[in-house]
Amino acid sequence: MASEPRATEAGRPLLLRGGRVIDPAAGHDAIADVLLADGRVSDVGTGFGLPDDAQVIDAAGLIVCPGLIDLHVHLREPGQEHKETIASGARAAAAGGFTAVCAMPNTDPPTDDPAAVGFVRAQGLRAGSARVYPTGAVSIGQKGERLTEIGEMIDAGAVAITDDGRPVPTAGLMRLALEYARTFGIPVASHCEDMTLSRGGSMNEGATSTRLGLIGIPNAAEDVCIARDLLLAELTGGRLHIQHVTTRGGVEMIRAARARGIAVTAEATPHHFTLTDDAVEPYRTNAKVNPPLRAAADRAAVIEGVRDGTLDVIATDHAPHHYDEKEQAFEDAPFGLIGLETALGLAITELVDRNIIDLPTLITRMSTQPARAFNLPGGALDRGAPADVTVFDPAWSWTVDTAQLRSKSRNTPFAGRELRGRAVYTIVDGRIIHDASAERP
Ligand code: DOR
Repeated sequence: MASEPRATEAGRPLLLRGGRVIDPAAGHDAIADVLLADGRVSDVGTGFGLPDDAQVIDAAGLIVCPGLIDLHVHLREPGQEHKETIASGARAAAAGGFTAVCAMPNTDPPTDDPAAVGFVRAQGLRAGSARVYPTGAVSIGQKGERLTEIGEMIDAGAVAITDDGRPVPTAGLMRLALEYARTFGIPVASHCEDMTLSRGGSMNEGATSTRLGLIGIPNAAEDVCIARDLLLAELTGGRLHIQHVTTRGGVEMIRAARARGIAVTAEATPHHFTLTDDAVEPYRTNAKVNPPLRAAADRAAVIEGVRDGTLDVIATDHAPHHYDEKEQAFEDAPFGLIGLETALGLAITELVDRNIIDLPTLITRMSTQPARAFNLPGGALDRGAPADVTVFDPAWSWTVDTAQLRSKSRNTPFAGRELRGRAVYTIVDGRIIHDASAERP
């Protein structure tokens, strides 16, 4: 598996002193110290002895929590390194407060065999920043025809299988994927889209698409596939993870399925809980994303899903694209927007500051649950847990400035937006991989 420790900086213990330590898995929320040593959480509490050589960070006024984990990023390597590399993506993740990310397999060539999975894993280790966990494709070449060698990809480090970027086109193949994944104890992550309904569309189907004269993608394109995959999860007993849920119908079906005992986890993205389809006007390609930004009622349902835990994971779907590609006519521009460096600020600004969720729930959605959904190390701060920690300032007001982003791409609809909440330290394996303390106002 991809979780082996890396060398810590001179092996020096690190003490995070006096922060508000929130560890939802342990039900912990109190002012405390956290000591990290030898790549592990060594102590949480107050009044414990401090090693002589410890580096001390004053975390007063800051939140100290298990490292944020993003289950859904596109890092573009191999094949489209002009948009992002594994190293630049891992650095963008660290800057956003993420200690680990899961790389989607729609690279060029697709990550569909053990060698490709091993490459992503090795490049992640080489980057030495946020941890990078590969996912493997469901189908060879992501063509939706034949199943990949799932067991071999897991041995090479894959933590889930998914054809993300595309749906698994047939129920038969999805059934097989769920059955095989079940035998290995990993989830199948599903990009739910019936392409016979979405084909040709470039935004949500509704009043705005009519006004702009663009072909729309109806909610049903997503809902038909969510219904199918929930039925197949029930049939197989496999673990289903539904990616980027955007529709009211989808949220309702997932809620009902969970109540029936179906093993399903599901994502909300910051852009879907923040924006509606009118953000696309006037033909703003940086708001072109798949699944598309939806109507106000859908956005409200996604927010309610995050609040009540139906959507138990917040994930970015970080999808970098080059400026020139996004400069094309709306219909021709690729789908996708970057999200790693704005996710925490958007979640705090849109959800916590509006009293929709509290900080422990935010951390549950961005760390605890992502770790559980994909069986990843981390997501907790109990003694012996990996020393992957995010320290953030929930009151830090800042403006999204695309010139400052670590990502290689700039395709965000949030440029110029005022946000509250930002990572101050991102710590992986006891080592500070991102330090923004000097920039803090
Ligand atoms: O907007 C999107 N961008 N949706 C996807 O499914 C794929 C992603 C990408 O790879 O650019």
